[in-house]
Amino acid sequence: MLANTKDVLKQAQSQRYAVAAFNVYNLETVQVAIQMAEKEEQPVIIALGERYFPTVDVEGFSAMVQRIAAKTSVPVCLHLDHAYEKESIIRAIRSGFTSVMYDGSKYELEQNIHYTKEIVDIAHMAGVSVEAEIGSLARGAFSDEEEGNGTLTDPKLAKQFVAETNVDFLAAAIGTVHGMYQGEPNINLALLEEIRNEVDVPLVLHGGSGTPDDIIKNSIKSGICKININTEVSMAAVSYLQNYFQENKTTHLSTVMANTQEAMEPVITKFIRLFANK
Ligand code: 13P
Repeated sequence: MLANTKDVLKQAQSQRYAVAAFNVYNLETVQVAIQMAEKEEQPVIIALGERYFPTVDVEGFSAMVQRIAAKTSVPVCLHLDHAYEKESIIRAIRSGFTSVMYDGSKYELEQNIHYTKEIVDIAHMAGVSVEAEIGSLARGAFSDEEEGNGTLTDPKLAKQFVAETNVDFLAAAIGTVHGMYQGEPNINLALLEEIRNEVDVPLVLHGGSGTPDDIIKNSIKSGICKININTEVSMAAVSYLQNYFQENKTTHLSTVMANTQEAMEPVITKFIRLFANK
């Protein structure tokens, strides 16, 4: 069933697990993410980034996810990831998304608070929950996200930010990167503990791809309730396609798409199981 993201994350927070938020851009990935979540009996978040609005029909996409979610036994949330424009957020809310992320992380704190609060006020009137971010993630390899400056989240500012914006969940920058790590990951779990001590809303970890399992597990222990995954799923599909076309000269798109879904299944399942923290 389609579920309110805030309710789903509050439950994760009280039971100490994290919900996977998969970045998707097409029917095939939506289907695999929801099917695997159902198989593992875990909730799942389907996340569409604002950067894909030029190529994805947002209203059509939302209707598709809602239709699939309606016949699914586990909670399915529909989330707008990394949105920078108010118009995109309003469009997502109007078309039925259950949560939105406003990314004002490039602004100074006061401005970020000002813009985020405006979005929170609009979204809450529609019963839609809001994620926001202070601090910023650097970009690693194979990522499709914007380059950030890698500034870590300051716990005291996080407290002020949440109190003044009334945001529902907070993305904390603790050293993960969008995409694959180039060199050893340098992730500050002590900082996450400090943020946790200052802030009581569910915390979100961006940059799940390539992050070592033990760090993921410890971050969940320290309050992470939602983990975003994009690059590793994309890599599984793309490397399958590269190999496929080296070996097969003639084929049909329907076969290729079905096989690509199979190639994404293990990586999606791996993350759902890891985050379930059983
Ligand atoms: P990865 O590409 O590292 O999985 O990060 C995804 C993400 O955080 C999207 O917001």
